[in-house]
Amino acid sequence: MLRNIDTHKMNILMEKNEDVRQIINQLLENHQTIVSTISHEVRNPLALISSSLQLLETQHPEVKDFYGWTQTMEDVDFMRQLLDELSLFNNGSTIRPTVFSMERLLKNISISFAISLNEQDGIEFTSKIPSDMGDFTGDKLKLEQVILNLLRNAKDAVGESGSIMLSATRHTDSIHIAVKDSGCGIPHERLESIFEPFRTYKSGGTGLGLALSRQIITAHGGTISVDSKEGDGSVFSIVLPV
Ligand SMILES: Nc1ncnc2c1ncn2[C@@H]1O[C@H](COP(=O)(O)OP(=O)(O)OP(=O)(O)O)[C@@H](O)[C@H]1O
Ligand SMILES: [Mg+2]
Repeated sequence: MLRNIDTHKMNILMEKNEDVRQIINQLLENHQTIVSTISHEVRNPLALISSSLQLLETQHPEVKDFYGWTQTMEDVDFMRQLLDELSLFNNGSTIRPTVFSMERLLKNISISFAISLNEQDGIEFTSKIPSDMGDFTGDKLKLEQVILNLLRNAKDAVGESGSIMLSATRHTDSIHIAVKDSGCGIPHERLESIFEPFRTYKSGGTGLGLALSRQIITAHGGTISVDSKEGDGSVFSIVLPV
């Protein structure tokens, strides 16, 4: 697994040596092909799930009465869109802005996340989203990706039981979003490195969640930071200019 990629050093090496430039470009190209292949392969079974759900809805229209049905259908569609993005291998800096309601986005994410939490998990999830958030111009899909990354990390951090809170506030020239958890916390010496690509302390983690999140928030002209103490929970804070 790659660690501590120093792009600046890599660029200097590439400028100095033509062979190195060619090898690094080849490696990057291979990496892109692998990502495209995986996302393409995941898209196939996802398309099957989507068709099955649509068939289920046609044959048993009563499923629409289930409180989480519409959200589940939207989530499947969201995953399809994410995979489309991944297969194109757009990086986090490519922003496609639209105007949308931040309140609606955060409330939808809260509903999906609440559904995804198993009741037995003993995780208490609360969200505080005011109704005066106003419209926001930004990449809705990518910002959803960021919040979901933070919520998933929070879920991993609290484990079987604990609390997670998603909150937001609107200021004159910015929007503040925070994800707070009562989980394991982060040792002081890891606080900045967790934003580096491929930096993971989980089995099965890719370590890309926070790196991508920071890239996306920076591309919106915003900041993402963490405040945490080992054994005492964490707060991830996002500030987005409006
Ligand atoms: N809320 C949190 N509480 C405690 N540790 C966290 C929290 N969020 C992130 N971390 C630490 O930061 C590391 C990097 O997080 P990141 O989301 O980038 O990758 P990951 O969660 O390990 O893998 P994935 O790519 O699946 O998201 C995690 O492995 C974890 O050690
Ligand atoms: Mg993660």
